[in-house]
Parts: sequence; structure tokens; C-alpha cells
Amino acid sequence: MELTTDRKLNLQEQVKKLKKEKNAVILAHYYQEPEIQEIADFIGDSLELARKAAETEAEIIVFAGVHFMAETAKILNPSKRVLLPDLKAGCSLADSCPPEAFRKLKEQYPDHVVVTYINCSAEIKTLSDIVCTSSNAEKIINSISKDKEIIFAPDKNLGSYLMKKTGRKMLLWDGACLVHEAFSLDKLLELYKEHPSAMIIAHPESEEHILKVANYIGSTSGMLNFVRNSEHDKFIVATEAGILHQMQKDVPNKTLIPAPAKEDNTCACSECAFMKMNTLQKLYNCLKNEDPEILLEEALMEKAHLPIKRMLELS
Ligand code: 13P
Ligand code: SF4
Repeated sequence: MELTTDRKLNLQEQVKKLKKEKNAVILAHYYQEPEIQEIADFIGDSLELARKAAETEAEIIVFAGVHFMAETAKILNPSKRVLLPDLKAGCSLADSCPPEAFRKLKEQYPDHVVVTYINCSAEIKTLSDIVCTSSNAEKIINSISKDKEIIFAPDKNLGSYLMKKTGRKMLLWDGACLVHEAFSLDKLLELYKEHPSAMIIAHPESEEHILKVANYIGSTSGMLNFVRNSEHDKFIVATEAGILHQMQKDVPNKTLIPAPAKEDNTCACSECAFMKMNTLQKLYNCLKNEDPEILLEEALMEKAHLPIKRMLELS
């Protein structure tokens, strides 16, 4: 339900007040609703948010993002309270890699180095040697000794993109993100015909045929930087539509066009339903009640911490 402007401003004011009273910090992903981004202490991509979570001195972290991101923040801060406005804010990519099935694959290849994309559950992280995000994945893969074989999970699109970039053959888990697989190549090419001067920019979770026509491929922050620094003034953006809020603020005079999805939808763009489960009202409620909270077992956190720590040290 859409909030009235008064209600929105009122909730935002109350969140700011509570934040101060409780020494809480709000970390938000770029895919969150604008009204949440507006009150966040920090907005970032997965890597930047993990870094911020590792550095924060606040007692409470409210994570405006999805479950695996809040879990990562908790693993980095076991003694702090980490709140997620809606515990059901999951991720199709993380869900595509169930721990039991992944454990079986790992057992078949005991000598492979296991690299997992941060978009996976804490349990999958306990089965990993090193974690990566879309902004540091290439660097992480290149840091692994050439005589080692690699299992990469769970995103097959990012995995095959990385195989091309690094020249490394990897065993890929068959997972994908619903949102980034929703772009239509035919519609994108049609749109490009209407805007031939536009640069096509895409997130590496997108399918290979989309990445093939992209002028730039990068993480959420990578795309923001590209648009900010580019001499071009028109961009077709193939990633979750939430990024457009911050992007347009950064470059008010440039034209941003969301890449079209296969299915018809009103905004002709793709939205992550999981990210959008967090609302301003839920964020206010969770900060007020300090619930829902991410709770993980000590042993699981200890094990999952190692591959995340390795990633942060390397990037
Ligand atoms: P980044 O924030 O690393 O670009 O990842 C995008 C994403 O899909 C997050 O779930
Ligand atoms: Fe997961 Fe895709 Fe949503 Fe990111 S956009 S949280 S990868 S479902």
C-alpha cells in the first residue's frame, strides 16, 4: 500500500529518532525502495555493505536488503543485533543452492577450491573456501593458484562470465537470479534501435546474450561509477530497477532507460520482489521492536566467517 507523503515523512522522522536513541545504523542496498534509501546511513552494493557492516560501531544494524546480506552482517558482528525488516526477504539465487545438494557436489570434487558468490545462505558459506561479490569476483578467481580446479556457485551466469574474463575453467552450479534472467534480448534490441546513441550497461548476473550486447558489465556500484564518469548521456540499464533512484540523483541531466523484461509489466523494468518486501513501515516496526532479528548458531557463524574474511582481506 502506497504511503501518503505525510505518513512517509512522519515515519522517516521517527526512524531517525529511534536510530539515535538506540545507536543503530541503517545499511541499505541500492535495490531498496527510494523512501528507505533516503533515510539510510549508507547505501551500497553487496561488497560495500559487507565492508560497512564489518566496520560499524553501532550496537544495532538494521539491514535494508535481503536475508543473505543481513546474515553476512551478523556473521561479521556476532555480538551485535542485526535486524531485517522482513525475514521473508530472500533471494532466488541463494534459494537455488540448497546445502545438502551442494555438499554432495563438493564431496565429488574434494580437491577443488570452492568459490561462492555472496548471494548464498550462511550454510553454503560454511562449505566455501572464499566468498566473492560481483565487484571483486574476477580478482578473487585470479588469486587462486592456476594449478587448482574451482567450483563456482551459485550463479551460472556470473560464473560463465568469469570463465571468459579469467580464462579459468570452472565447475558451475546451475543457479540464477530471477530478476536478471528476466530481460528480453529482442525487446532490448528494439529499444536500442530507438536510442542508437545509448550505452547498454548490464549486471553480470544477466544471461550471456544480454552481456554480449552490453557496452559495460559491472556490479551495482560499478554501473553507477560508469554512468557518472561516462561522456555519454543515455544509458539502457539492465539490472534491478531500484538502482535508477540513486543513478538519476547522481546524473540528473542524463537519460536512464530501464532494460525491458520478457514479461509485460507496467514499468517495463525488473524489480526484485524480495528486496521490495522491506517497506518503510516494516523498517520502523523492526527498529522499534528490535524484531525480526537474525539469529545464527555460534558454530555456524565461526565457520562462515572465514571465507568472508578471506574475501575482505583480498579486496
Ligand atoms: P551487487 O550489489 O554486488 O551488485 O549484487 C547485486 C545483487 O543482485 C544483489 O542481490
Ligand atoms: Fe537475489 Fe536477484 Fe533479488 Fe539480487 S536481484 S536479491 S540476486 S533475487
